[in-house]
Amino acid sequence: MKVLHFKTLDSTNNYVKKHLKELPEAALVLADYQSSGRGRRGRTWTSDQGKNFLGTYLYKEHLDDGFNALLQSSLAIIDTLESFGVDSFIKLPNDILVNDQKIAGILIEQIRDGSPALLIGIGLNVNDAPNIEGTTSLKRLLGKSIGVAEVRELLSERIERNRSVSFAELFSRFKDTLSSKHLHGIYQNKPVRIEDIDEHFQCRIDSKWVPCQAIQFRSLTTNCKYFK
Ligand code: BTN
Repeated sequence: MKVLHFKTLDSTNNYVKKHLKELPEAALVLADYQSSGRGRRGRTWTSDQGKNFLGTYLYKEHLDDGFNALLQSSLAIIDTLESFGVDSFIKLPNDILVNDQKIAGILIEQIRDGSPALLIGIGLNVNDAPNIEGTTSLKRLLGKSIGVAEVRELLSERIERNRSVSFAELFSRFKDTLSSKHLHGIYQNKPVRIEDIDEHFQCRIDSKWVPCQAIQFRSLTTNCKYFK
């Protein structure tokens, strides 16, 4: 996989979208700093210069759907953290938590027109978490600095490996690592509890199956800030 590393970008996801045509079939675009890092639902993603993993994996071939990409990437993050002795959990739809605090977020974007592509943007707090309650970093958990390059190697290796693991295997691991505490959200303006989740990314609430996308998941305080 070709790796492109920049000191500063507006956002690694934006860079990939802008340069889609010139980029190879598979690439990883990294930035030490993002001036307009993006989170889900129009939020910004903030991170100090050179402290954390900020990268977008691009795939133009053998495209998986968004849910499969979410399983591959969230489990890759969980395994990477585990190699540092840190246990983490998934909070739907795409946050990674350690002790109820957010350590990583994933922004998946699919390009369907023109040249189809899948973008998996990951922000992982390695040596810095914003000074906001509800966030953490590997450094804070381990009490020592960790090389971002080491984290990048482990994460990339696991993402690549997960691309050839069957959906069934990934899905069963995904269910095992869902944080049971955070299985709630807002559906049709009412607070709901997620009773189950299926292979088609549907959630069961009040014994009915609805697309998970229709549920607004509560967010923890995170690197993300709402645009003003
Ligand atoms: C979220 O938790 O809402 C998702 C956050 C995703 C942040 C990463 S950082 C690298 C990539 N580039 C971006 O602009 N966003 C993602």
